[in-house]
Amino acid sequence: MLAIETSDLRRTFNRSRGLFRGGEELVAVDDVDLAVPEGMIYGLLGHNGAGKTTTIKMLSTLLIPTAGSARVAGFDVVADERSVRRNLGVVLGGDRGLYNKLTARDNLVYFGHLYGVPRGAVGPRVDALLDLVDLGDRAADRVEGFSRGMKQRLHLAKALVHDPPVLFLDEPTIGLDPAAAVRVREIIAGLAREKTVLLTTHYLHEADALCDRIAIIDHGRIIVEDTPAGIKSQVGGDRRHLISVRGNLNGWTRELLGNLPGIASVDLEPTDDGLTTITLVANESAASVDAALRALHQEDVEVDAVRTADLTLEDAFLALTGERSE
Ligand SMILES: Nc1ncnc2c1ncn2[C@@H]1O[C@H](COP(=O)(O)OP(=O)(O)OP(=O)(O)O)[C@@H](O)[C@H]1O
Ligand SMILES: [Mg+2]
Repeated sequence: MLAIETSDLRRTFNRSRGLFRGGEELVAVDDVDLAVPEGMIYGLLGHNGAGKTTTIKMLSTLLIPTAGSARVAGFDVVADERSVRRNLGVVLGGDRGLYNKLTARDNLVYFGHLYGVPRGAVGPRVDALLDLVDLGDRAADRVEGFSRGMKQRLHLAKALVHDPPVLFLDEPTIGLDPAAAVRVREIIAGLAREKTVLLTTHYLHEADALCDRIAIIDHGRIIVEDTPAGIKSQVGGDRRHLISVRGNLNGWTRELLGNLPGIASVDLEPTDDGLTTITLVANESAASVDAALRALHQEDVEVDAVRTADLTLEDAFLALTGERSE
């Protein structure tokens, strides 16, 4: 069975410009079709404003779709909103959603009751979840004294308190230090197969490591849907090419390289030692790198070194979506 299924899911907002002028319609989610099998960790990636949170809000019954349909755990998000909520745990970004004056344990107990967990089951469930998210020894402390990483782990535990089969995590590691993010990722990875997880993140190495499949959304539309490896190979070459050159390169050079056939993306980064590293993602590896080197030579740019490296999901993402956001 599919845990999450959408068909032509659409949401528009009225971007009104002052009181008396007519509003302009903004299409935030544009006919999105998703089919997420049970037990998967599924990534929804896209630039700022691409439509990820709007999609998650529609799937979690917080926003009504403008058109199309969506089912979560087999239930329609509009017609069967209560069943959807019962089968769903959601972690939306931000600090809200926990009671600061309550202890970690009391927060979870409160939400357990709210979600209708049977009385006798709440205590043991809460203790198990506190252990799962490494807060067992802080269970009796008030949340107001928690670090961001601890709060984020408690958010995860809260989303799991009614043992839902489906979990939506909107940027679950945002603002966490590397160690805290690693721990949250381990917890998410541990949920695989038991739960279906829909995850958004701007950390593409995180998506690469965690997700079984990924959909990339751009201006409200799904432009690619595949495994992380599949997405990398769709960009063509499975390598990226790093060319170090002397001096600073301008936007014009970038455009020149970007317009060469077979070059999927160009990124310029100055390095401390006065060089510029040009990262090329090339479709037809050898030929397009040669063309780039010839072009640089014609521009009298001195090439210092050429290396190849494995293509990252980030390279593929930028090549597929372009580098601008919104
Ligand atoms: N309540 C709203 N009213 C008007 N426009 C909105 C509203 N919510 C979202 N939008 C617009 O819809 C588009 C998609 O926003 P959304 O929050 O879904 O993006 P996102 O992919 O989650 O981005 P981010 O990575 O920044 O979180 C944006 O253009 C945004 O400005
Ligand atoms: Mg968002």
